Amino acid sequence: MQESDDVAAPFSIDDSPIARELADLTSRRKVLETVDLHIEGPTRVITVSNQKGGVGKTTTAVNMASALASLGARVLVIDLDPQGNASTALGVPHTAETPSVYDVLIDEFPLADIVQVSPESPRLLCAPSTIHLAGAEIELVSQVAREHRLRTALEDYLSDDADPVDFVIIDCPPSLGLLTINAFTAAHELMIPIQCEYYALEGLSQLLGSVRMIQKHLNPRLHLSTILLTMYDGRTRLAQQVADEVRSHFSKEVLHTVIPRSVRVSEAPSFGQTVIAYDGASAGAVAYREAAVELARRGLAENNKGAS
Ligand SMILES: Nc1ncnc2c1ncn2[C@@H]1O[C@H](COP(=O)(O)OP(=O)(O)O)[C@@H](O)[C@H]1O
Ligand SMILES: [Mg+2]
Repeated sequence: MQESDDVAAPFSIDDSPIARELADLTSRRKVLETVDLHIEGPTRVITVSNQKGGVGKTTTAVNMASALASLGARVLVIDLDPQGNASTALGVPHTAETPSVYDVLIDEFPLADIVQVSPESPRLLCAPSTIHLAGAEIELVSQVAREHRLRTALEDYLSDDADPVDFVIIDCPPSLGLLTINAFTAAHELMIPIQCEYYALEGLSQLLGSVRMIQKHLNPRLHLSTILLTMYDGRTRLAQQVADEVRSHFSKEVLHTVIPRSVRVSEAPSFGQTVIAYDGASAGAVAYREAAVELARRGLAENNKGAS
């Protein structure tokens, strides 16, 4: 084929889709740099749950936590999944010998005794999970106050601290067993990550049914405050359809920010990091930082409503 200088390229580099995306990302980063939040008010306890595996619960828990810490908040992540992925992503040791959430739930260790500081930030704390937690689901069955164990430990932890953390974020396992029930009993808010793929809404009514049971019998304060759309691939119609459908059902709860599917997000845990630390300028990190700003602002608005 003959190459010719005077044939115009289909588009110049400056208005290619990639260039536009980069320019957009740069301007979003600039906006984030100007955000100045004064995080105040009582501790918000948020459980990140969805009984499906692989929908982005852990990724959301650790990245929202890290993003909130980067905004100046003090955040405790409670890793309630025996797989310990949140502990890994936050870079805290969680071998079989590490004192963990298991000891809190089964042997009534104070939470303060097991909390570690993430190397990522002095404001980012983690109550690690170990493999022992896999047995806790069964061991709890025969325990007194089995649904309230985490709540009691957390209340003691927060009231013993002269300057309690601003956020507690609980990463749940993919089931509706006693570990998740402990999270629901301890939390004020439920955050559901929804993967923008087929079957996204399947199982949601079961999850919300469990929440209603918890509200009725164990924790009237628990409410669905936030839905976050994750692993969004804007090139597919399906992702857009799922997002539209979720927004039509839950217009108030769904965050405006959507988390894109991004390789950087999935690489970060293998370096023992959140994407905020691993590549804070990447599209995934920027989206999680924006989502964290939204989450924090919504809380401030709620507090102000309560105060007026
Ligand atoms: N936005 C994203 N882009 C790319 N990969 C992602 C994203 N969010 C999560 N993942 C990957 O998807 C998998 C499941 O995510 P994870 O947070 O562990 O889900 P869950 O805790 O619900 O089981 C992990 O391998 C994670 O790295
Ligand atoms: Mg997980």
